[in-house]
Amino acid sequence: MKFNIIKKDIATVKADIALIGIYEENQDNNHKVKFLTEDGGASLDKALKGELSKLILQEEFKGSVGDEKLVFTSGRISAKHVLIVGFGKKEDFSAETLRRIGGNASKLVNEIKAKSLALVFQDSPIHKISTAIRLQSFVEGLILGSYKFDKYKDKEKQEGHTLTDLNIITYKQQSICNAAIKKAVLIANATNLARDMGNTPSIDMTPTEIAKIAKNIASKKGLSCNVMGLSKIKSEKMNAFLSIAKGSSEPPVFIHMQYKPKTKAKTKVALVGKGITFDSGGISLKPPKGMEDMKDDMCGAAAVIGIMQAVAELKPPVAVDAFIPACENMPSGSAIKPGDIVKARNKKTIEIISTDAEGRVILADALSYAAATKPDYIIDIATLTGHCAYAIGERYIGILGNNQELIDKIIGRGKDSGEKMWQLPLEQEYKKGITKGIADLRNTGSTKAGTIDGALFLEEFVDKIKWAHLDIASVSICSESHSYTPKGCTGAGVRSLLYFLMNF
Ligand code: BES
Ligand code: ZN
Ligand code: ZN
Repeated sequence: MKFNIIKKDIATVKADIALIGIYEENQDNNHKVKFLTEDGGASLDKALKGELSKLILQEEFKGSVGDEKLVFTSGRISAKHVLIVGFGKKEDFSAETLRRIGGNASKLVNEIKAKSLALVFQDSPIHKISTAIRLQSFVEGLILGSYKFDKYKDKEKQEGHTLTDLNIITYKQQSICNAAIKKAVLIANATNLARDMGNTPSIDMTPTEIAKIAKNIASKKGLSCNVMGLSKIKSEKMNAFLSIAKGSSEPPVFIHMQYKPKTKAKTKVALVGKGITFDSGGISLKPPKGMEDMKDDMCGAAAVIGIMQAVAELKPPVAVDAFIPACENMPSGSAIKPGDIVKARNKKTIEIISTDAEGRVILADALSYAAATKPDYIIDIATLTGHCAYAIGERYIGILGNNQELIDKIIGRGKDSGEKMWQLPLEQEYKKGITKGIADLRNTGSTKAGTIDGALFLEEFVDKIKWAHLDIASVSICSESHSYTPKGCTGAGVRSLLYFLMNF
């Protein structure tokens, strides 16, 4: 997509669609529609001799978020159509409102096969948030909303998005606009990469393929990347990780990617992503219904790789290390069995009660490996527990950890980036559920709060470093598309963590 910055009246700008927004309560006492002068609405209404006003009054267009009205201009102005969208209530207007408007617009643009879209981004006291953030959010929504996963379809049925040009009408400095656009593009592309990886079936998205993608990104973007194969993983004594991998004929990999800022970083963040490329449950086999979704059990790993791709160019002032254990969880003659006991890298013994609680077992070694590099913070991201969906549903990421300040920061950046998170307690009273067995730890707890049990298990491997755990099991796949989130893998966690890293 080309981004053109234009200093002109929107009524004279050529485009397939000119987009204007309107808040709720958009009429004055004399029932005159209050278009936003600053956003070009007034100018378009004037050029169309009040037609837009009439339409809003006649059709009782409220201006709620999601309201859209497309008007054909039949050559009376330079734009072929005017798209009026609702901005919602002025007091509720946020970056997320614009992200959703961008997502909705991208769908409509494609439906009518429009190639160019024009809209105004101007400084104005009527908007609570800055022009740069409004522009960034809209572009994020536009790119995220235009995502499609059709590479397995017949070539002829694959159709790209029609939009080629976004005409941004503004008097703002070009450099400020370009920086906002660049951020948005990097963040959205990182999310879309994670979506692509998650949507790709496990026959193609193998551990080896994940390593290839990580290496490729690293060499293109100037990151370092070390991929350990079976023998190196063995010599690192990651026996917990290996105990899960050994049931599959796909060889496991352990990936370590590294970003270092130019000037010496004061802070070092370790990201750890669960990379189970298919979770059959192992010997504790999952029921067949919905098992196909278990190709997405590497969405934590995909998020981390997406983040590293963007980090390389966004260049936050923190050092970022990414650790990814990737393997398949399969039942076979060589698979781990319930009742088996394995010794993790940090020497703690784990009694495997369910081979389906495999994520925490591979993360155990990845977390202790990450902890040994002495980061200031460890953040892991994993499709860890189906229970998370029962606790908080499909629109919230579950977050737990041992440091409230870190958790609060991540929740805050989640809010800014349009990813909702809900904290669950890391309740130490429940720990006895995972310590009561014949080994140091059991890999399942004894409460109904499986998400908390899972996090309590992980806590045993972070060596008291400040740590947060994002359980994305409930949000990694979306069953029905909404605004900028299409059906399928969502790329959950990418935006929150990128915003978090950029905020140091
Ligand atoms: N990969 C699953 C979690 C999952 C479930 C992700 C649904 C996405 C959608 C994980 O490995 C798992 O199987 N967890 C078990 C834990 C249980 C055995 C303690 C679960 O959720 O039931
Ligand atoms: Zn499992
Ligand atoms: Zn799993």
